[in-house]
Amino acid sequence: MRLHDILIVGAGLAGMRAAVVAPSDLDVAVISKVHPVRSHSVAAQGGINAALGENDSWEAHAFDTTKGGLYLGDQDAIEAMCREAPDDIHELERLGVIFSRDGQGRIAQRPFGGAGFPRACYAADRTGHAILHAMYEQLLKRRIAVYEEWYVTALIMEDGVCRGVVAWDLIRGGLHAIGAKAVILATGGSGRVFLTSTNAVINTGDGMALAYRAGAPLADMEFVQFHPTTLKGTGILITEGARGEGAYLLNTLGERFMETYAPQQMELATRSVVSLAIGQEILEGRGVDGCVLLDLRHLGRQRILERLPQIRELAIEFAGLDPIETPIPVRPGAHYQMGGVRTNQWTETGIAGLYAAGECACVSVHGANRLGGNSLLETIVFGRRAGIRAGEYVRTIARQAFETDQLVIEQRRVQRMLAQEGSIRAWQIREELGQVMSLNLGLVRTHESMAAALTALTALTHRADSVTVQDKGRVFNSDLVQTFELQSLLDVAETIVTSALARQESRGAHYRSDFPKRDDVQWLKHSVARRTPQGPTVAYEPVTVTRFPPA
Ligand code: FUM
Repeated sequence: MRLHDILIVGAGLAGMRAAVVAPSDLDVAVISKVHPVRSHSVAAQGGINAALGENDSWEAHAFDTTKGGLYLGDQDAIEAMCREAPDDIHELERLGVIFSRDGQGRIAQRPFGGAGFPRACYAADRTGHAILHAMYEQLLKRRIAVYEEWYVTALIMEDGVCRGVVAWDLIRGGLHAIGAKAVILATGGSGRVFLTSTNAVINTGDGMALAYRAGAPLADMEFVQFHPTTLKGTGILITEGARGEGAYLLNTLGERFMETYAPQQMELATRSVVSLAIGQEILEGRGVDGCVLLDLRHLGRQRILERLPQIRELAIEFAGLDPIETPIPVRPGAHYQMGGVRTNQWTETGIAGLYAAGECACVSVHGANRLGGNSLLETIVFGRRAGIRAGEYVRTIARQAFETDQLVIEQRRVQRMLAQEGSIRAWQIREELGQVMSLNLGLVRTHESMAAALTALTALTHRADSVTVQDKGRVFNSDLVQTFELQSLLDVAETIVTSALARQESRGAHYRSDFPKRDDVQWLKHSVARRTPQGPTVAYEPVTVTRFPPA
């Protein structure tokens, strides 16, 4: 069996950040189902937050984050993130991230929703791309081993301690056990639980499902953020940076309808507010073909080309229009999972040897609604913290080979999957799951819609047992990988629905028309879903409040 000190699952920003900060005398490796620069962090557009401005402060950033998250975020973790953000941004700059500049040559910052200051540092509208590539260079420089295109099927657990993973080698085929003194999950989000999403097709919640099956709880899974502006038809992200630069949202009457919903903040209200407003406009017949319009024309050609070149390209390629001349049809779409593997602010999961960072984790800094620009920041701050803390932990563990029956268990699982005959394909169930979730757990939820989703999910999970993998080969068997991914999606979806059904209030991204009010007396608490043979059970944990009492 191969053995490492630290094995990081996922090669997006949180994963690579953890790898490059882990002590260089340790044997660190990364394992990822895609090549690192194809990780979904590359698609982040609008910016990364840090209080760099003269009149800004980390305390103001922490307040905006807490308030924007409807006070459900843990304030000790929020404080750590906001306090450490400026140093991390300057470190990224030294590592070679080419941030856009203001007139004085300083890192430029644009306003984002729910932020009291222009706080989002950016590289035009390709911020994730710029950071991910700089981080990959660091990975290469440090000669960190990468298992490229390997899919982790299970964590190896021995006596309640995580000791590595079992993974399928996509290129050559075959399962392998890989031992590690510490495993860091950094697998990103689960947006593909929904039919249309800004997420890449690889975002199937694998890390959340791995941890959940190994006994770690998933917290706050009901809070799924719908980004207000995704492109008509495809659901591709159209960055909040556009509104940060001054773009308007218009309804079919040509009205800037945000005047009705958030007259102060207008288009830069928090995402849950803007998404619900757009939904309401469409519902009341003031939409345009199921969308509203994002108007950039008044920004002018120069500014669009300089600051928003990617969304212009996306609009031309995927909607056949040039935003310099024509408004872009947009509507809310699934974007971000605020919940995830429960961790403390040092990314510890409660299972010895297992850490989680980035979107797959719930540390929790976003509460019920994440502010734009805090997701990239979370990957950088908590990826670093994971690398440091796992590094400290492994020094307390002696390296030793060990026996595991997890490999045999996974081999039998693959044999069963490949032997299954029939006509049900993984993609069919995945599509039906997406439809069920988008229809019943979208912007507005009710007991009836969520109960219907749960019933449908139970049936889909049952049918998923009969999925046929038509490709019986070993080499690049994407059919097999999609079947694994389907199991992750179903597990994650079940925790979303169960947690959402239980929460009888509205808060941030969880809006119930049958319980339309926020209820701090009953519900200012984290939901914590655990796996049992009968399905998820949901318990509750207190929220950490330090300096900002809920208001
Ligand atoms: O709109 C955006 O550029 C997305 C940013 C984010 O989700 O943080």
